[in-house]
Amino acid sequence: MTSTHAQWGSRLGFILAATGSAVGLGNIWKFPYMTGVSGGSAFVITYLLCITLIGVPILVMEWLIGRRAQMNPIQAMEHVAVSERRSPAWKWLGVSGVLGAFLILSFYSVIGGWALDYLFLTGSGKFSDMTGKETGAVFEGFLANSGSLLLWHTVFMALTMGIVAMGVTSGLERASKIMMPALAVVLLILVANGIFATDSFGRTIEFLFTPNWSAVNGNVVLAALGHAFFTLSLGMGIMTAYGAYLGKDVNLLGAARTVVILDTTIALMAGMAIFPLVFSHGLEPSSGPGLIFVTLPIAFGNMPAGTLLGTLFFILLTFAALTSSMSLLEPVVALLEQKTPLGRKSATLIAGAVIWLLGVASLLSFNHWSDVQILGNSIFDFLDKLTSKFMLPLTGLGIIIFSGWFMNQESIRKELGLQGTGYQIWSIVSRFVAPLGVIAVFVSMLMG
Ligand code: PHE
Ligand code: NA
Repeated sequence: MTSTHAQWGSRLGFILAATGSAVGLGNIWKFPYMTGVSGGSAFVITYLLCITLIGVPILVMEWLIGRRAQMNPIQAMEHVAVSERRSPAWKWLGVSGVLGAFLILSFYSVIGGWALDYLFLTGSGKFSDMTGKETGAVFEGFLANSGSLLLWHTVFMALTMGIVAMGVTSGLERASKIMMPALAVVLLILVANGIFATDSFGRTIEFLFTPNWSAVNGNVVLAALGHAFFTLSLGMGIMTAYGAYLGKDVNLLGAARTVVILDTTIALMAGMAIFPLVFSHGLEPSSGPGLIFVTLPIAFGNMPAGTLLGTLFFILLTFAALTSSMSLLEPVVALLEQKTPLGRKSATLIAGAVIWLLGVASLLSFNHWSDVQILGNSIFDFLDKLTSKFMLPLTGLGIIIFSGWFMNQESIRKELGLQGTGYQIWSIVSRFVAPLGVIAVFVSMLMG
């Protein structure tokens, strides 16, 4: 193999892994419902700002740290800290990241199970000619049926565990080369459906993009910030782990641009596919986590070849969810393997079983345990908020402070290939804008 070939192979493998982790339920399930809950454009615009000014520098630094250390995230933080003559205690950022991945996977798998179940529901033709009221009723019945939620959560978690235990993650990443574009094509068809088969596309664009500053408040900004971390898989050491795949020659800023553009495009397309259905069927934008499961079946039930297309859509969504869920399980398993005498298979089994059990609690919070409250939230909402709104941004803050203030800036400048104005922008954004942005969001939250 020529060296250009080897480089190309490593760059592509890396981009596939990083994009596979980033693009998932966060884009298609979470982004639209959060947008609906948080008032549309106020959320979308702050989210885009958070991605560019905070997400990008953290993504780049997670990769850079991983590439320098060539180790798992916890060791990587320690290794890089020590090589910069800093305290090894920075490794705790890696530890909190793994804990975040553990908690996120528990409820991610529940929603992955919803996607699997909807694959079969859609495939059975159940949604043919249904109205929004009817698909809403199907979803309510679906949530009440804890047995079937449990079955599909179990199937999703078993698939994730199987992939990680057998170490076939890279095979899946390669398959995503076909599955991701296919997902984008189906989304495009759904956007076209919104444009041509509903009368609400104009309203959707207005809802998503017309600045509405009066709707921006501390809560919306914290939600947007948290989602920027969630959607790019940041603050968990996952991207640090992928950095170890990287050759020295890969341009980190260029790679970040690719991943961020793909991730953001998929999310915005999902929004443009879903809200025309929300508005044209008189549904509530702020109805929460069920939003895509109530809206998309209306489109599939009423368009030509909708049953086929709907089935395909949920297959692709499940696939995208699996390439994300395996990236969540991987660091937990790696940590267990390293800290205990367990082998890979048993480590996967044990980690997976505990995560599955926690997922069962989330799942029950949609039915039998809907009254159980933790600090005013259902179990599902609590785990989601704890991770997205607190753990990920705070771990990310630690990483960006470490890299902007405790690492040699000149070596970072060289490694990113930056000079002149480019470097000045990088420096201002990564050392000031990003950390102060996160801090400002928290301070404004605390002040009310
Ligand atoms: N980024 C993934 C998504 O948007 C979810 C995820 C979060 C994956 C955190 C890994 C780590 O669906
Ligand atoms: Na994402």
